[in-house]
Amino acid sequence: MQIHPTIVGLRAALDPLRASGARIAFVPTMGNLHEGHASLMRQAGSLADVVVSSVFVNRLQFGPNEDFDRYPRTMDADCARMREAGVAHVFAPSEAELYPQPQTLRVVPDPALADLLEGAFRPGFFTGVATVVAKLFNIVQPQVAVFGKKDYQQLMVIRQLVQQMALPIDIVGSETLRADDGLALSSRNGYLSAQERGRALELHHALSAARDALRSGDRDFARIEHDAMAFLEARGWSPQYVAVRRQADLQSPAAHESSLVILAAALLGSTRLIDNLEV
Ligand code: PAF
Repeated sequence: MQIHPTIVGLRAALDPLRASGARIAFVPTMGNLHEGHASLMRQAGSLADVVVSSVFVNRLQFGPNEDFDRYPRTMDADCARMREAGVAHVFAPSEAELYPQPQTLRVVPDPALADLLEGAFRPGFFTGVATVVAKLFNIVQPQVAVFGKKDYQQLMVIRQLVQQMALPIDIVGSETLRADDGLALSSRNGYLSAQERGRALELHHALSAARDALRSGDRDFARIEHDAMAFLEARGWSPQYVAVRRQADLQSPAAHESSLVILAAALLGSTRLIDNLEV
């Protein structure tokens, strides 16, 4: 596995591979990797000849009160995980390498998608994500890129970016990996105390109850959302949203619609967790 701190170095390694017809799959990350990331990388390996991953904590997608400085930088452990998951090339630029001048040109996703849910609670988040992902796509030029469904709205923003900018990249959404108790794997789980970790599965329980209600034909979406929020509040969480939405565009569904997704964000102590379930 080769680690490339510069764009020039990465390109020098990838250009001959591309010229020889190798198919390149890309998994962008912010490091602090866990088994969920490894599963994205293994899936990428099943879709291409060469897996490229990036490790870059992207300041542009952190709000002023978010955890940019606190975000764990764990490069040695990340490299071991990537090597084991079959990654051949890691792009790990410094901020000066990726943003040599202030990144004043931004990729602003469609507000109809990006200003809802996560975007409403984290203004500018998806602009930061779309900007760095567009830049990483230009640098790596993969044929396929794999993103986790855990960040459901992010995956949709990236799909829209690729469609509307006609980028020749297949975007693959990968199923969320969960711990045995149902908690979605996330870098932020590392912030939970042992006591909070024991309770963190309640978010999955709230979503599962909402899913069961929808599956049983309940179409009172507002009450289902309210019940899930109340379930979390009663257990000491501070839920930000629980929303039943259409899978196609994350808008509120009509009663007869069937391809739905329930998305939630909630604070447990000071740790913000998100999760979702497709129905
Ligand atoms: O999902 C993430 O880890 C980040 O948002 C991404 C896609 C690597 C962009 O910084």
